[in-house]
Amino acid sequence: MQRLVIEGEKKLSGEISVHGAKNSALPLLAACVLAKGETVLHNCPKLSDVYAALRILACLGCKCIREEGSVSVNTDSLTHFNVPDELMSQMRSSIVFLGAILGRIGRCRLSFPGGCELGPRPIDMHIAALEQMGAKITEEHGTLDCDVGKGLHGAKIVLSFPSVGATENIILAAATAKGTTVIHNAAREPEISDLARFLNACGAKISGFGEDTVYIEGVKELHGCEYEVMPDRIVLATYMSAAAITGSELTFKNIRVQDVEAIIPVFEQMGCAVCPIENKMFFSAAKSLRACKTIRTMPFPGFPTDAQAVVMAALSKARGTSIVVENIFSSRFGHVDELCKMGADIKAEGKIAVINGVKRLSGAKVRATDLRGGAALVVAGLGAQGITEISDIKYIDRGYECIEQAFSSVGAVIRRV
Ligand code: EPU
Repeated sequence: MQRLVIEGEKKLSGEISVHGAKNSALPLLAACVLAKGETVLHNCPKLSDVYAALRILACLGCKCIREEGSVSVNTDSLTHFNVPDELMSQMRSSIVFLGAILGRIGRCRLSFPGGCELGPRPIDMHIAALEQMGAKITEEHGTLDCDVGKGLHGAKIVLSFPSVGATENIILAAATAKGTTVIHNAAREPEISDLARFLNACGAKISGFGEDTVYIEGVKELHGCEYEVMPDRIVLATYMSAAAITGSELTFKNIRVQDVEAIIPVFEQMGCAVCPIENKMFFSAAKSLRACKTIRTMPFPGFPTDAQAVVMAALSKARGTSIVVENIFSSRFGHVDELCKMGADIKAEGKIAVINGVKRLSGAKVRATDLRGGAALVVAGLGAQGITEISDIKYIDRGYECIEQAFSSVGAVIRRV
């Protein structure tokens, strides 16, 4: 089993580039199913979740080729509609293949998706919306059998919560459905806009994305295109947290400031200077970090739940008391016990965590409990005195491309053993 070993309290300096976004690349790969011919995705991150998505595409009959940062997917020989249980259980976003496969083939068989353990993660909104669009969905022994009969049709769908995955699934299913679909209370995350822009480049007619009402006028068919995956805003938040906790000055390349508008003020309250210019961000940490006002995770444009853990790691060394309220997932504080093993003073109950900043964190043997919680331990390890050893790093590899290389390149002492 691989581990990350970090010798902490080293100052970081230099430039570090942000790779393509996992949470955009995965729905884009699912969307390739809808596009006839070849699609090329550039800036596609090398992550275990991306490899799992490529394996799903291969199982469906697509030809996938990875060359450096690009992936090409040819769907000319796509004929299958079954997604193997083993691949469904690997990641949550495997569920967005449902809308895409139904749109292309009209039938789909798959099981309930897996993914990080963050509390219950039902797919009721996905199912209800697809049924509204004409899909017949039956469940037996954990397998979903879906059939669209004569085809999917447009519908007016009102989501009870702006679910990212449900919005993506509806957009995918609606892109080639008969008529117009309108999604009210749609998710507004930048990854939704990336998906809509990609589909439009393939010939779809989607408008309103990035707002809470999205309109999808179904078209007959989609064609392949070349597209560049957006940068990963959570990886950027992780790098900012690492710079903050180590008291460092770093430059981040390949960023989009509009995606992190809710994150920047938190670091400014901590006393850090953040200066974005075009697609770069200059970050200078405070000499001594200060606690910040209450952070409440919210759907975009609010503070993202995916950045909660890494920012909490930085706050664990900030002078004063900070409070984090996790509003999106019912159980997303798995990292708290591990951070406490490193000397952090954090109490979590229900959806609230109270962080009393400590002067020093000290290295310890800790375990990644989920993807972002694992990244938080890397951040804490970089800021801790002595050696931190993180196990179960398979979670971290789901969303960070060679995290040890990224941090080593700016002076961290971190290796994979
Ligand atoms: N929900 C339902 N029913 C549904 C769908 C969602 O009750 O049918 C609930 C969920 O249980 C959760 C809330 O709604 O409490 C939000 O879930 P959402 O559907 O928005 O999340 P997701 O699509 O499952 C994506 C990201 C997550 C990210 C969330 C929120 C991907 C592959 N995953 O998940 O990313 O936390 O949106 O922004 O895009 C991560 O990258 O570490 C990660 C967990």
